[in-house]
Amino acid sequence: MAQARKLLASALADAGKEPAALEARHLLEGASGLNSLELLTRGDEPLGLERAERLQRFMECRIAGAPVGRILGRSGFYGLDLLVTPDVLDPRADTETLVNAALDFARSRRWTQPKILDLGTGSGAILCALLDALPDATGIGVDLSPSACRIAQANLARCGLANRASIMCGNWAEALLGAFDLIVSNPPYIALTEKSELAEEVADHDPALALYGGSDGLDCYRRLAPDLPRLLKPGGGALFEIGWRQAADVANIFEAEGLGVAEVARDSGGRDRVIAFSRP
Ligand SMILES: C[S@@+](CC[C@H](N)C(=O)[O-])C[C@H]1O[C@@H](n2cnc3c(N)ncnc32)[C@H](O)[C@@H]1O
Repeated sequence: MAQARKLLASALADAGKEPAALEARHLLEGASGLNSLELLTRGDEPLGLERAERLQRFMECRIAGAPVGRILGRSGFYGLDLLVTPDVLDPRADTETLVNAALDFARSRRWTQPKILDLGTGSGAILCALLDALPDATGIGVDLSPSACRIAQANLARCGLANRASIMCGNWAEALLGAFDLIVSNPPYIALTEKSELAEEVADHDPALALYGGSDGLDCYRRLAPDLPRLLKPGGGALFEIGWRQAADVANIFEAEGLGVAEVARDSGGRDRVIAFSRP
């Protein structure tokens, strides 16, 4: 198996799929049904014909452009192993910046039993990560896509969190009345004018409903902003993932609703990725 892993990593690197070594490990785990520790300890075992054929198919799909999460039907996010299907955005490493900022915000407030709202929950990645890290929290995830809602519900159950959260199918916060301590959202924020510049891996494999935020990418923020004063408790926080050039525009949209910018957080590439607002 160690040999197969080496060959796979080298084929992926030749095809420009980086980080090749990490992707090779994930694909081998998926093809063999072994976890990373088992792969290390059983590395000298033969792969076997069935697994080798599966790995070959995985490699061909990856080189043809399918993301690893799509091939395996699972994605790692914030230490959780989540189901992903073509109906949901494959959760991104960038979105872990939003989870980190939301956890910092929540912990600094020392809330007991915080109530969390995740708007556009998709796979439920953000909600699952927050509930997993905040054992006294409860939450609601909302998505317009019924299929995404089913995946989010399945992921809550998979992570043992279903007793602390519900998933609702609807148009943003339209049907919600309750007040929340923490509101998080990674809304679609790609400008339609940037559609032609998107990598094939994104444009061809993620649902359009998860990607595009109108002509300038800001439509969802404009749609969400007027609901926040109603939804956010005094002292609460609302954190949004943003495109790296959108911080100033998104700040203007929410400041017009009386919210103050608490922080702009950067992703691992040093680009603005999250904007946090607090309600006085
Ligand atoms: C960028 S994806 C984020 C998914 C997930 N939260 C994540 O970070 O991986 C945006 C999500 O917003 C959902 N969405 C789009 N328009 C919506 C609307 N009007 N109401 C609720 N959800 C919506 C999409 O279906 C998609 O799941």
